[in-house]
Amino acid sequence: MYKIAVLPGDGIGVEIVPEAVKVLQTIGEQYGHRFEFTEALIGGAAYDATGHPLPDSTLELCRQSQAVLMGAIGGPKWDTLPVHLRPELGALLPIRKELGLYANLRPAIFFPGLLHASTLKEEVIEGVDLMVIRELTGGLYFGEKKREQTADGGWVATDVLTYSTMEIERIVRFAYDVARRRRKKLCSVDKANVLESSRLWRETVSKLAEEYPDVETSHMYVDNCSMQLIRDPKQFDVIVTENMFGDILTDEASMLTGSIGMLPSASIGGQVGLYEPSHGSAPDIAGQNKANPLAMILSAAMMLRYSFDLEKEAQAVEKAVSRVMEEGYRTPDLMEPGCNAVGTVEMGDQVVRFIREG
Ligand code: IPM
Ligand code: MG
Repeated sequence: MYKIAVLPGDGIGVEIVPEAVKVLQTIGEQYGHRFEFTEALIGGAAYDATGHPLPDSTLELCRQSQAVLMGAIGGPKWDTLPVHLRPELGALLPIRKELGLYANLRPAIFFPGLLHASTLKEEVIEGVDLMVIRELTGGLYFGEKKREQTADGGWVATDVLTYSTMEIERIVRFAYDVARRRRKKLCSVDKANVLESSRLWRETVSKLAEEYPDVETSHMYVDNCSMQLIRDPKQFDVIVTENMFGDILTDEASMLTGSIGMLPSASIGGQVGLYEPSHGSAPDIAGQNKANPLAMILSAAMMLRYSFDLEKEAQAVEKAVSRVMEEGYRTPDLMEPGCNAVGTVEMGDQVVRFIREG
């Protein structure tokens, strides 16, 4: 039996999470596993109910589970709260830190059925298969933040960007291990021509590279990387980078697959892994059965793979998603002429159908 904490959160989170649960239940039936789901509040929904976006009981549930399935958090309703109570800084960042989730895996994989969905040319994206590994518990996100008034009545705002050798080494070793199980190419992305933290990053990677002679190591500046990702994404296998650069590059990488609604993520490194789509809570389309649940469903597949070591089951989910795309079912974010328009729930149903069909 596998114990899973389920945190739908806000906005489209409450619509896409049930679809992933449905998919996991189907995998359970088909492969003889029992998944036990326990729901808890996080984000704006938790703030409204309890006065805090990350209640202790939610964190406790996560710690007692084997994995966490999370939807999305935040929305305009909570944007004006004091900073420490906002869903992002009061819940999402602390849950990542508290659970020790320093490694964030975001695979951008090309689905043949989506060849025309990207804004990029077909020959550029056909066959893309890359993995961005984003450091998730350090850097600008967690450095000191402050604001001070100046004599002229203006303000000075500061965000500190810090990385230690230990933090760099553990994420880079993690990335090397992933690269070893793939095409054995690791590109480390930094801004070493300007930032001290990036110079330490680059030196640390260069030293570690000697321990992984079987992996081809390269270094790239982040500005160049953002350009190379849309110029020639097939040059990449594994990209490893710090928190903020990873945040930005993964939104960019999502368009290689056609939609941000297709990019899953796994956050691991601690006792329990957390699985959430790379996208946000999309308040503009929330509650309308329009959200694409596939990034959420693909995140559940990553849970099967990374937390439960159920590779065959993970592949069954990914194959079903691929089939749904080939058969032309599309949520609005991916809609093209000649395809079948479906909503969030129907999309989940189709994935379930193809898992059952095998
Ligand atoms: C992501 C999101 C979050 C982040 C936001 C919601 C704080 O953009 O998971 O990429 O920046 O990490
Ligand atoms: Mg982001």
